[in-house]
Amino acid sequence: MGELRGALEAAPQGAIGLVPTMGALHEGHLALVAAARANSRVVVLSIFVNPLQFGPGEDYDGYPRAEHRDLELANQTGVDVVFHPGMSEIYHSDLSDMVTVSAGPLGTVLEGASRPGHFDGVLTVVAKLFNLVRPDGAWFGQKDAQQLALVKRMVTDLRFPVDIHACPTVRAPDGLAISSRNALLSSEQRGRAAVLHRALLAGCAALDRGSEAGEAGDVMAGIVASEPGVELDYARVVDPVTFGAPQHGGPALLVGAVRIGATRLIDNLQWPALEPGDV
Ligand code: PAJ
Repeated sequence: MGELRGALEAAPQGAIGLVPTMGALHEGHLALVAAARANSRVVVLSIFVNPLQFGPGEDYDGYPRAEHRDLELANQTGVDVVFHPGMSEIYHSDLSDMVTVSAGPLGTVLEGASRPGHFDGVLTVVAKLFNLVRPDGAWFGQKDAQQLALVKRMVTDLRFPVDIHACPTVRAPDGLAISSRNALLSSEQRGRAAVLHRALLAGCAALDRGSEAGEAGDVMAGIVASEPGVELDYARVVDPVTFGAPQHGGPALLVGAVRIGATRLIDNLQWPALEPGDV
């Protein structure tokens, strides 16, 4: 920790950019690093697999970890400081006995409904990282749209002096959003996983034709259901800010979550489709 502060104390004001991650770095993370690099004098990459955001029976123990490779990639991509805290640097007391951040109502729908307490855990660790690193800006992926929305809400509601920047989702050629959890899929499962992106595209096409949000949700659910071995958790069209019902014809976010074996994958698309360069 002293080392972290030592490295950052000399940074000029307004210069520190933070990219929070749980490691097992991939092209999605590296796109965040590149965006932070382009806008910050000092780029800090944090790597911490946060137990507080995993529910009982979720994949905390099995979550991919690749420390050496992560450090190499961080070096190659121009990260200035890798903050890789031990458990006691982040959680000094029992996980069930401490002050935490509450994500509020937005934390209880969609991902929050399927993973109770998940977003309280995310926001608690992000708040700690902000307090330890004291960044001027922090970069998050649109891939985790509800997380991004909640981090923005936390920064606004709790008055964190941090600018939140969003980066577009990086995808594999077949459309699958790149994720650390993709490494947990067998090659057969990996072949089936692109159905989630295809379903979201079909949902967008339904909205283009004038369908209601509910109908577009049914289209997405039908496409996921047609893929053997892929189980739907949810597929919905929501308002991109509140994650409640969208305005008909107004901007919307199509969100989906599926289970493939023991692996849970999420993805989303904005509607109307974005111009290149937008987030
Ligand atoms: P993690 O899943 O490691 O993701 C770290 C950051 O990378 C998040 O902002 C996420 O949205 C972004 N990201 C992941 N896949 C991406 C992709 N394909 N394209 C663009 N960005 C992508 O999200 C977390 O960790 C944790 O919840 C964290 C915020 C670090 C708190 O523990």
